Amino acid sequence: MSTLALSVLVLAAGAHAHQVAWAKGMYCKNGLSKTDSPNESYPINPLFNLTTSGWFLHGQCKNYPPPAGEYLSIPANGKFTVEIASNRAWTTFSYGGTKVTDWPDGRVHPNNWSTNITDPNFPPSSVGCIGSPNLHAHGKIDAAGTVFSIAYKSDIKSVKLSDFTVFSVLPNTPFKRLATYQVPNLPACPSGGCICMWGWVPNGCGQSNMYQLPFKCKVTGAKLTATPLGKPKVPVWCQSNQKACVKGPKQMVIQYQASGNNVVLPPGMQAEGGWPSPGYNSKMGFTAGAQTDIFVTATVKGQAVETASAASAAVTAAAAATDDDDLVASSTASVTTSGTVVGLPTASALTGSARRSFGHETYLFPVLHISLFSWILSHL
Ligand SMILES: *[C@@H]1O[C@H](CO)[C@@H](O)[C@H](O)[C@H]1NC(C)=O
Ligand SMILES: *[C@@H]1O[C@H](CO)[C@@H](O)[C@H](O)[C@H]1NC(C)=O
Ligand SMILES: *[C@@H]1O[C@H](CO)[C@@H](O)[C@H](O)[C@H]1NC(C)=O
Ligand SMILES: *[C@@H]1O[C@H](CO)[C@@H](O)[C@H](O)[C@H]1NC(C)=O
Repeated sequence: MSTLALSVLVLAAGAHAHQVAWAKGMYCKNGLSKTDSPNESYPINPLFNLTTSGWFLHGQCKNYPPPAGEYLSIPANGKFTVEIASNRAWTTFSYGGTKVTDWPDGRVHPNNWSTNITDPNFPPSSVGCIGSPNLHAHGKIDAAGTVFSIAYKSDIKSVKLSDFTVFSVLPNTPFKRLATYQVPNLPACPSGGCICMWGWVPNGCGQSNMYQLPFKCKVTGAKLTATPLGKPKVPVWCQSNQKACVKGPKQMVIQYQASGNNVVLPPGMQAEGGWPSPGYNSKMGFTAGAQTDIFVTATVKGQAVETASAASAAVTAAAAATDDDDLVASSTASVTTSGTVVGLPTASALTGSARRSFGHETYLFPVLHISLFSWILSHL
């Protein structure tokens, strides 16, 4: 094969190749297959013009979990590294890492690789952006940013978009292969682990689309005192008015789909030119690094709750802050209002729910004991 033919092939591959985070615990590591697939690129497929079932959890990828017991480890107050690449071949998960370079396309580029550098082997894309790797950017400077979010649920079949809270933002990515995300003071996951999700909304430079991929994950080294996450809000476009940005816990950005888009884009162009692109950056109110403002601040009638003696107030505040803690919410509500509990939730359901809410078993026992006591009373 001539050098020209080879480079045309390489370019053709580069032009279609997009990026995803590869790591332990990922769904779809073998694409839509249950056998080892080292030369795999299915999960890099951009999500575009799809209905919700097509984009959420990367569509069919939700049916291809990691091996039993394999999780992405998320160290509380620490950091973790994943490999961003356009094919599993360019990661350490394939071929013993022999095809790995510093870059997501398994090629070698200068450290400051950008469209300001001319490399005849890797010309710009048709829209004048970096051709390979396909970063939807002119260089590191305008790489849109990528994130990890977390849902404190173990069952991917019951998880909803509104369960996911963005907990780490890595600005100016994707760029190189290795990407390290900082982690805030996350509480522990339920015993079956959490579901995490990687996300990226590129800043134009090609088709406007988005990327997401689910992972089975576990928070390691969680502190018993860690507070639960608040209920995440949908982020809003706030490029020209940062005061309008949504503060606190935020959901993932969904855009460019046939259904389920959650951002209202402004008319006209964005400040840096091009159509408004709701990336994980200041345009959507995201700050760099560990998202430390995502936790429940327990308040009772506007006053901060400081101590565990106010545990039941914290329970109420936490339950109010999440929409899926009905068990705890109804237990406490029934106890305080009527002294009866209509039905006693099973201990395991309550444990899961309470752990998910509080990450601190101390809170569980008063709730469980009060519930049991009330249930016995109501059944005498
Ligand atoms: C991976 O797949 C591509 C295209 O599908 C093919 O050209 C390439 O040779 C494969 N690489 C390996 C190492 O099998
Ligand atoms: C999106 O999908 C719909 C329905 O499949 C199709 O009619 C439409 O042309 C697509 N839009 C784009 C921009 O591809
Ligand atoms: C990229 O880095 C190289 C080596 O440090 C330097 O010679 C070159 O001027 C840089 N190019 C740009 C466009 O910054
Ligand atoms: C290209 O160089 C110009 C001038 O130094 C700089 O302003 C611009 O940010 C560079 N572009 C990229 C993509 O690095």
